[in-house]
Amino acid sequence: MREEVIQLLITEAVKARQMAYAPYSEYLVGAALVVPSGKIYTGCNVENASYGLTNCAERTAIFKAVSEGQRHIDAIAIVGGPLVEPEADEGDEVESKIKTDYAYPCGACRQVLSEFLPESGNIDIIVANSVDDYKLLKLSELLPYSFN
Ligand code: THU
Repeated sequence: MREEVIQLLITEAVKARQMAYAPYSEYLVGAALVVPSGKIYTGCNVENASYGLTNCAERTAIFKAVSEGQRHIDAIAIVGGPLVEPEADEGDEVESKIKTDYAYPCGACRQVLSEFLPESGNIDIIVANSVDDYKLLKLSELLPYSFN
């Protein structure tokens, strides 16, 4: 995965996070994925008063892409965190926790991603707090022995 693409996906996920509808958890998530043509699709979490109906940011982006004809996903970036970051008044420990606490895709989103593998057979997953604070993983690491 090219660094340039990683940076672009994180930037788009940060923007998508601003659209999150999360009045119940106040945990805002944005996702941005890229398909083989280079086109990018974004999504945010969409909550509901009936909590179980919540849709994750990742699945919002995936369903947008698939509903527009896409069938393969090369990479997805996810940026998540609380609406108000905790006050860093307890010293460095709090600061470092915010920086390393990435929002990993939930099990349901991992399974849904595995339906749309690209030719390479794997999807790059970028969990990020910002363009210069991220981790790059493979779907196969997050969902080994998947049901497909
Ligand atoms: N959420 C996501 O959007 N993606 C994930 O991978 C994990 C959780 C959302 C669902 C809910 O709106 C909020 O984060 C708190 O769980």
